[in-house]
Amino acid sequence: MGVEIRWFGHATFTFSDGAASVLVDPFFKENPACGEIPADLRADVILISHAHWDHLGDAAEIARQRGIPIVGTPEVTRLFEAEGVKVEKMNLGGNLDLGFASVRGSVKMVPAFHTSGFPGDGREVGVPVGYVIRLGGLRIYFAGDTCIFSDMKLFAELEGGIDVACLPIGDRFTMGITEAARAVELIKPRIVIPMHYNTWPRIQQDPQQFRQRVEGTGTRCLILAPGQAATVD
Ligand code: NI
Ligand code: MN
Repeated sequence: MGVEIRWFGHATFTFSDGAASVLVDPFFKENPACGEIPADLRADVILISHAHWDHLGDAAEIARQRGIPIVGTPEVTRLFEAEGVKVEKMNLGGNLDLGFASVRGSVKMVPAFHTSGFPGDGREVGVPVGYVIRLGGLRIYFAGDTCIFSDMKLFAELEGGIDVACLPIGDRFTMGITEAARAVELIKPRIVIPMHYNTWPRIQQDPQQFRQRVEGTGTRCLILAPGQAATVD
């Protein structure tokens, strides 16, 4: 079937199977790589990894304008309910069929090691998470903001393999290149896409260095420019 994967810089992706599109961590207006919500953005459901401002981003506006639901932890989705947005709550280890959003696929919420402070007052809002997204015949692991941890290997084993892993490489707030390359060895995805780098100087990284580290592991490193899409079969 194939899935079109579009990266908008930072941790913002859409995964589309041709019929429907899953939008993850929509961060557009204050994202230096975007500046505005793309006019041609396709989204039927939004997944949120944690409450940091660079991940909640424009989720409420997009969800309200389009009448599409937001998926997240009970604590994070509560922020959106207050704004009159439809939400679907789930929690760690749980699976959710996305049929309610007319998406033929499902997601599992998995742990991430990070924090989840609310932009306004810094109070912790639930815990940060990642997602395993099953769409268009692919199993996609979106790690979210996280350090490396050995259960990444278990997530892949439980899926019977991961086709695409989206891993942060920016360092400072998440794992950097060395640990992300080690995570690739744990997960053994067919393809790895680096994310959460070069948004700002503090997370400046050379993705080619990551590619070099991944080469030889059997995983293909797919480096996207912000706004660029690739179709994975
Ligand atoms: Ni964060
Ligand atoms: Mn972040």
